[in-house]
Amino acid sequence: MSALTILSLPNELLIAIAAAGQEDVSTHSPTAQKIEWILSRLCRRLRNTVVGAPTLWTKIEASCDRLKDLDQSQRFSEILRLYLRRSVPLNVAIFLRERVGDSEPLTNWISQVAAEIDRVKSLSVVLASAEDDFIQEFAPLRCLAAPNLLHLEIANISAESTGRCLLGLFSAGAPKLSFARMYGCFPSPIPPWVSTLTHLQIENGSHQHFHDAADEMIYLSLIRTQPISLVHLHLDISMNFNTLPTDYQIHIPSLEFFAVYIDDTESAEYLRDVMDFVDCPALTELVVIGSHGDQLLFVLNMSHFPRASFPVLRSLSLINLDEAGCSCEQDMPHPIKTISSHATPLFPALSSLVIINHCFTPQLVKEIMGTGALPWPSLRTLTLCPSENISGVRSAVGDAVRQTPQSIPILRLSRALLFPLDWFEGRLDAIEVFDPEEVVKPFSGYWHG
Ligand SMILES: *[C@@H]1O[C@H](CO)[C@@H](O)[C@H](O)[C@H]1NC(C)=O
Ligand SMILES: *[C@@H]1O[C@H](CO)[C@@H](O)[C@H](O)[C@H]1NC(C)=O
Ligand SMILES: *[C@@H]1O[C@H](CO)[C@@H](O)[C@H](O)[C@H]1NC(C)=O
Ligand SMILES: *[C@@H]1O[C@H](CO)[C@@H](O)[C@H](O)[C@H]1NC(C)=O
Ligand SMILES: [Zn+2]
Repeated sequence: MSALTILSLPNELLIAIAAAGQEDVSTHSPTAQKIEWILSRLCRRLRNTVVGAPTLWTKIEASCDRLKDLDQSQRFSEILRLYLRRSVPLNVAIFLRERVGDSEPLTNWISQVAAEIDRVKSLSVVLASAEDDFIQEFAPLRCLAAPNLLHLEIANISAESTGRCLLGLFSAGAPKLSFARMYGCFPSPIPPWVSTLTHLQIENGSHQHFHDAADEMIYLSLIRTQPISLVHLHLDISMNFNTLPTDYQIHIPSLEFFAVYIDDTESAEYLRDVMDFVDCPALTELVVIGSHGDQLLFVLNMSHFPRASFPVLRSLSLINLDEAGCSCEQDMPHPIKTISSHATPLFPALSSLVIINHCFTPQLVKEIMGTGALPWPSLRTLTLCPSENISGVRSAVGDAVRQTPQSIPILRLSRALLFPLDWFEGRLDAIEVFDPEEVVKPFSGYWHG
């Protein structure tokens, strides 16, 4: 559209067209390419129209990531100020991304955000430097209330992974907050807004950071805060379930999605123990990161959990992020004995089972759909991506498909397992190729945009 055609449009239409052309925040496109910026620079009439339309200034993005010198980061402080001023009185979405090794603008940004906090509906901050005074920089937000905040994301992607990162945020409340994602840091002391969240995601808060019992207790009381309305909980905090009181259970009646990380070095019973801590009757999707094949064999060999039940669980994913495999099969060379698969009573509604990078995958395939396995009528798809013994998995799958009298689920197999296809003599309509990356991505790190 040429500037001339644009100029013949009435103001309201012009603003509506510009608003429709705006992208969401965090797309990382430079300010100079944003539509409100371009239009405000074309001519005086457009400038007055665009500058006078608060709705065009509500999606605010300041990123120092690609800037070379401090002048430009100061310029971003100016841009933030300008957007905040032009958007009055509307609510705004703010995305801030700090440059590696330069926390100077962040201090300025955070105090600008604090001054306008009543109008902030979405706040995302990506920290990239490992300086210790972050907590200082966030101090302006610590004791505030955020009355209109719906969505909060703080990611600490600094390369160092030592030290604790506790962030005090909005301790006077954020009554509308429903989505919180914290990466590499966590809210402490436990804020009052935890009780209104429907989505809580805490990632990379674990490993080196939290191994003392006090930290675990912080989390446990966090998810025990009453009343709690979580639907989606993603906890990467390496809780040591062994040290929990034996009567402890994670009781969240509203929870539908739960992703939990477990330590790599645990015993064969550990997966059972972790799942037994879950008391969430509405759960439809469970993702376990870090489990091993022998732990799943142990679970499939049970007729029931000591306490837990999964009446409506539709999807169970077991993902090991270690693509190099493990030494379990060498360490336990004798096949693990199982009586038969009792999985149907364990998971009566399960329709999708995903097993990625797990040892003993050939044996798991036999347990789930081999000749001796109990029928598992609800299971629609079995997704497999073994990291080792590909030929063993192929022969187990081939045997199961040829010999099992009952109907087999649709098999979704990784490319390495499926191709070349000459090993597979079963029904081709029952197999699909899938990309493990798609499944693993949400659990393997921060989106480095
Ligand atoms: C970010 O991580 C670094 C290194 O782990 C830590 O020193 C710093 O305190 C963290 N910052 C926040 C705000 O959590
Ligand atoms: C399965 O259960 C049987 C009988 O309880 C037991 O002998 C066997 O060792 C179990 N297998 C595994 C892998 O736990
Ligand atoms: C691979 O799996 C098969 C079972 O299908 C097993 O017999 C074989 O020992 C396994 N090979 C290795 C190297 O673990
Ligand atoms: C957590 O952070 C560390 C250090 O920054 C990184 O090496 C690791 O891959 C991260 N893990 C996940 C699951 O994101
Ligand atoms: Zn293993």
